[in-house]
Amino acid sequence: MTRVETIGLATLYLGDCREILPTLGPIDAAVTDPPYEFSTSGGGLFRKDRENMDQIKAAGLDQGFEHSLISSEQFRSAVVFAHNDQWASLLPHLASEYDRYAICQWHKTNPMPVANRHYQPDTEIYVHAWMTGSHPEGELRHKQRFIVAGNGQDGAIKHPTVKPLPVMRKIIMNVNGRTICDPFMGSGSTGVAAVEFDRAFIGIEREPKFFDIACRRLEDAQRQGNLFLGSAA
Ligand SMILES: C[S@@+](CC[C@H](N)C(=O)[O-])C[C@H]1O[C@@H](n2cnc3c(N)ncnc32)[C@H](O)[C@@H]1O
Repeated sequence: MTRVETIGLATLYLGDCREILPTLGPIDAAVTDPPYEFSTSGGGLFRKDRENMDQIKAAGLDQGFEHSLISSEQFRSAVVFAHNDQWASLLPHLASEYDRYAICQWHKTNPMPVANRHYQPDTEIYVHAWMTGSHPEGELRHKQRFIVAGNGQDGAIKHPTVKPLPVMRKIIMNVNGRTICDPFMGSGSTGVAAVEFDRAFIGIEREPKFFDIACRRLEDAQRQGNLFLGSAA
């Protein structure tokens, strides 16, 4: 049976989003960082990089996801992160599903210092796609297509692919709608940023240990109040 926790503005589901999303009906927006799909063949990795890669594989986060889960029928707009190797198939899906889209970037100030036979891992692409009327929001100064931020993974949050809050806050500021859903919630970074801006949040995570971390982070975020409401530098 699915476990559901209501924590202030957040409703968190422990379970598989392929089963839970169809039960939820229309939601304003999806903001998500789904499992990546990539090849690690060729080129050596630094030891730290290899450790992180091993954790990613152990959590099954190199298997990709069903693109049809991000549908304009359910979400009026969607922000989706993906690995370099996924965009050839994911971008056509989003472009056909939504009226408009923007390709945006997170530039990392502290990438792993390795390139081998590829580029440095210093940039992550995310796409914001929307239906007419659910276009990007925010003041002009908040509507850049890029954000420069450090990786911020200091090991305190036990998830191999935690997204930094400055990145998620910038994205939430640009997303239209009252309710934001992350069907691949992980440790809950999207949710923390969403409630900081007084948005309602729906998160789904299938791994109990990550779900518990997300519950704790959402409790902490809401105990601290809406620190970023109407601000964000
Ligand atoms: C890339 S991680 C998201 C990390 C998140 N952005 C954060 O900051 O912690 C993707 C998450 O999706 C979860 N996941 C994978 N497949 C899922 C599914 N079918 N339903 C729900 N969660 C799933 C994984 O367990 C993982 O925690």
